[in-house]
Amino acid sequence: MKHFLSVTDIGDISTAIAEALMYKLNPLQDIQLGNGKAFGMIFMNPSLRTRLSSQIAAENLGMRTSVLNIDKDAWNLEFKEGAVMNENKVEHIIEAAGVLGQFVDILGVRSFSSLQNKADDDAEIVIKKFQQYAQLPIVSLEAATLHPLQSFADMITIYEHWQQPKKPKVVMTWAPHIKALPQAVPNSFAQWINAWQTCDFVVTHPEGYELDQKITGALNIEYDQNKALEGADFVYVKNWSATKDYGKILCQDKNWMIDNKKIALGNKAKIMHCLPVRRNVVIADEVLDGPQSIVLQQAKNRICSAQVVLSRLLKTLA
Ligand code: CP
Repeated sequence: MKHFLSVTDIGDISTAIAEALMYKLNPLQDIQLGNGKAFGMIFMNPSLRTRLSSQIAAENLGMRTSVLNIDKDAWNLEFKEGAVMNENKVEHIIEAAGVLGQFVDILGVRSFSSLQNKADDDAEIVIKKFQQYAQLPIVSLEAATLHPLQSFADMITIYEHWQQPKKPKVVMTWAPHIKALPQAVPNSFAQWINAWQTCDFVVTHPEGYELDQKITGALNIEYDQNKALEGADFVYVKNWSATKDYGKILCQDKNWMIDNKKIALGNKAKIMHCLPVRRNVVIADEVLDGPQSIVLQQAKNRICSAQVVLSRLLKTLA
């Protein structure tokens, strides 16, 4: 593995899950692997889980870690080639990434979509520029279109609760939110589920919220949420803004919130969400606090998944 930017970088998903579960059982088994190596993390946006789980994963492998919040602690970056920098941008990505390339061995970057221009977001300009000028292995800590570390943890979590040999029915449902959110998490989840080829997968959302199937792969869409939830073994809840009418909120129908009545339609479905979640807007308290919620386990699996990614990159460096 040279970089970790999407599902295509992980190879066989079942093999990767098995590796992650070994790290979960024995987090310090490769404590020598990252000896003398440094993992730098750049955050253009806030984070709780990704920041700490990646840091813990790197430290479990014996790496040193450094975190920089570009939006608060560092110089405002210019990304345009040939820019005349006489306004508010103080440092160009050419020098910023170039310097980071001198300081660390692996670089993680978080950069959300702008939700202004889909073509620009799809081009993943920020993460690609870091890749170009840092000349290091890059780990996506959530980019404009994808959040692969989250999806990897999601697959591990599903695997742990999968009542084999029955093929699990996984439903990804849109839910309301007060803000326009990126499509990175649902895009990525769909991409990984499609690549894993282990689940019956249904996506449900109001009309107008269709995801870009060039990114997700082919999707089975059911616009009737209740019908989609029937017999579900896993319900992945997430809000996202519209893709076609890019970044717009088209629906705030509270009936799409996941509550006990909704989950009763499933097959004692496990309830998943990447977090952070707005209680009683996206998912009701009764569900998050109930026995079917596995959101904390999902978050815990962010550590062992990140550890697989970093260990594979370290082995490439060696
Ligand atoms: N799920 C997730 O990426 O959480 P953070 O935004 O807190 O990192």
